Amino acid sequence: MSILVTGGAGYIGSHMVLALADAGERVVVLDNLSTGFAWAVDPRATLVEGDTGDDTLVAWLLREHAVQAIIHFAGSIVVPESVADPLGYYLNNTVKSRALIAAAVEAGVPHFIFSSTAAVYGNPAVTPVPEDADLSPMSPYGSSKLMTEIMLADTARAHPLRYVALRYFNVAGADPAGRSGQSTPRATHLIKVACEAALGKRPYMEVFGTDYPTSDGTCIRDYIHVSDLAEAHMAALEHLTRGGASTVLNCGYSQGYSVLQVIEAVKRVSGVDFEVRLSARRPGDPASIVAASDRIRADLGWMPHHADLDRIVAHALEWERKLESLKGRN
Ligand code: UFG
Repeated sequence: MSILVTGGAGYIGSHMVLALADAGERVVVLDNLSTGFAWAVDPRATLVEGDTGDDTLVAWLLREHAVQAIIHFAGSIVVPESVADPLGYYLNNTVKSRALIAAAVEAGVPHFIFSSTAAVYGNPAVTPVPEDADLSPMSPYGSSKLMTEIMLADTARAHPLRYVALRYFNVAGADPAGRSGQSTPRATHLIKVACEAALGKRPYMEVFGTDYPTSDGTCIRDYIHVSDLAEAHMAALEHLTRGGASTVLNCGYSQGYSVLQVIEAVKRVSGVDFEVRLSARRPGDPASIVAASDRIRADLGWMPHHADLDRIVAHALEWERKLESLKGRN
């Protein structure tokens, strides 16, 4: 089967490409390399440099490669950035997704997997949060992704396209074999930032908000290993190709950790007691968000293999060390 992976040069996309190539699938990556890296794309895949919103290019790619499934990662992913630049997020995440879905319908691509997010829930009233909870995003990022979920649901009712929207919780870690990891410069994600501090790449790190209504006052998140997330996509693809119905699934472990617990884990695993400064809240952050994960386990038979915070941190640290030796590549 030929599969188009948008954003396949990025952090999660590159792990997906590895999983697909390891499974012997034919992979075409479409990436504009705005935040991804050509070197991050496994050489078994074909990399096309271009934009998801370029409908002429996408139509040609779908035809040329007889694409049977689209896995759509390309997009912008930083919550506070979306608060500062909402229209940029609606363009990248919503408008361009619409173009891609339209191209899929036009070309008769039957299967679509979409990278959605836990941010669609906002600050959920229930923990762990199930898929049918109220959806009230607290950031343009969450809204931009929710709009795409809505477009997919409506499109699947009107056209012969089936989809799985996966709502990612906090993705972290790196390929256990050291082939990929999170490489974005000026990282904002907690585990990456803490690993950079542990390795002396930044002089200190900050904790954004210590007055949340949580056990230690810092935000609680459900961290999922990127390789387990890639496996969730493999299971979603199998579900669709077996004729499974369109669905929306959380991707998390149902286990929450506070920001301070994560920092403790990074200090423990690295053995470095780096400086941590307590700061004000960051805009757009919900206090606590943990996934109910029974639906994905039951419907896709998904089973995580790396559900351990220290293991996630160890892989993230290994990649962070390796990244030094990769500097200068593009
Ligand atoms: N944090 C810090 N210091 C840092 C970085 C982060 O205290 O230097 C805190 C944040 O304020 C937040 C927590 O760590 O409380 C996690 O922040 P991240 O930036 O790592 O991740 P987010 O929870 O903001 O967002 C991530 C993904 C989204 C996804 C969301 C779901 O980027 O795509 O998780 O919870 F929607």
